[in-house]
Amino acid sequence: MSLGLAGNRLWIAVTGGILLIILAFASVSTYGKAPSLRLKAPGSRAGESGGSLQDVHNATLGFQKIFAINLPSRTDHRDSISLAAHLTGLQVDYWDGVTSLESKTLPPGGEEFTSKGALFAWRAHMNLLRHIVENNITTALIAEDDIDWDIRIKSQMEDYARASRVVLQTTSSGPADDYYDADYTSAGGAVIDYNVVEHPTTEPTSSPYGEIETWDIFWLGHCGVKMPTPSDNLPTNRAVIYNDPTVPETQHIDAEFGDRQLVDGYPNHTRIVSHAHDNVCSLAYAISLPGARKILYELGIKRIDRAFDLALTSVCGGTDRRPRATCLSVMPQIFAGYHPIALRASLSDIGTPEHGDEYTTVAFSKNIRWSTRGNFEQLVYGRKQYTDTFRDGEPKPDLGE
Ligand SMILES: *[C@@H]1O[C@H](CO)[C@@H](O)[C@H](O)[C@H]1NC(C)=O
Ligand SMILES: *[C@@H]1O[C@H](CO)[C@@H](O)[C@H](O)[C@H]1NC(C)=O
Ligand SMILES: *[C@@H]1O[C@H](CO)[C@@H](O)[C@H](O)[C@H]1NC(C)=O
Repeated sequence: MSLGLAGNRLWIAVTGGILLIILAFASVSTYGKAPSLRLKAPGSRAGESGGSLQDVHNATLGFQKIFAINLPSRTDHRDSISLAAHLTGLQVDYWDGVTSLESKTLPPGGEEFTSKGALFAWRAHMNLLRHIVENNITTALIAEDDIDWDIRIKSQMEDYARASRVVLQTTSSGPADDYYDADYTSAGGAVIDYNVVEHPTTEPTSSPYGEIETWDIFWLGHCGVKMPTPSDNLPTNRAVIYNDPTVPETQHIDAEFGDRQLVDGYPNHTRIVSHAHDNVCSLAYAISLPGARKILYELGIKRIDRAFDLALTSVCGGTDRRPRATCLSVMPQIFAGYHPIALRASLSDIGTPEHGDEYTTVAFSKNIRWSTRGNFEQLVYGRKQYTDTFRDGEPKPDLGE
């Protein structure tokens, strides 16, 4: 945790050092090999800011670019996301949504689409992934334009970076033999929780979040994830961030299409980074250049027969005749869809207007405490009394869902 732990630094430094020694001996006795030199000493200790972790605090969150996909006609979406980005120190490049498509350009399976909106959304992601490949962009965060995040996004992403390094450098049975978990094949191992402040990782060089060859996608904004368990044929190692004040207490957490493992199995204020499993909604995801190549090939060229988010889920799961990409996710999510007070039918350009002329009652974003959009007034006028949608010790508010 980056908040409120200054007094524990020394303790962490000491235990970190002891852990390094223990790990070095463990690897000798277990595998009969020389201890791996890649466990770099002091600078790379978990729980300590420094090196490229600082890059996470820059205007693109330590990625090379942040893109938001926006239909130029949705001026309302653009107004809000631009202001939200500005107020939280982020720099966003806009990418035009798609409004027409010739059917002869579709890859195999494209005829399965029944919704034009879903087809156009898929194409917008493909255009952007192609741009990433064409311009050799090493890492990018890709967002839909109606998302929200906590005002404390930068400290959250620093914690996420510590956690992604841990997940990428461990396996379901212990620290990885190499930099990362590339050759992992599920052997029915038990779930192992790695506390991010106790587990040492090496300092990556190509991205603050872990070497770009070791990950394809970070699924950071979704409307549901299931953390892998031994029967899921996915790596089950998890990085656990305890005492995160940006995480609502469990009575407030809405797992949506995901499972209840976080809510039922962990203390309040816990955030977990794991491999992605059955994610729904592609609200925001980071992608590495190797990941962009894979998705452009798999979903742009090889076959697309379902909505983009579900197709991405099959790539992350290695299902539906696709090789498995390395995708991590996080629960609670870091980006969530913003629910403004609005005509329900105006909220999405993908869905059908089944809600007629119903208005929503409260503005909120699921699982986000200090919603940036919900605090526009405070941020614009420089007031520090931020609205916390999900207050500790209180029952879940009536959000009029
Ligand atoms: C933020 O850091 C990343 C990783 O070091 C870098 O690629 C990117 O250019 C930086 N962004 C800005 C706006 O400086
Ligand atoms: C793409 O970027 C990588 C690493 O940043 C570099 O090694 C490579 O030469 C670049 N390729 C092109 C075509 O610019
Ligand atoms: C979380 O906090 C709530 C309210 O303070 C409390 O009722 C609940 O028991 C706590 N849950 C856990 C798992 O500690």
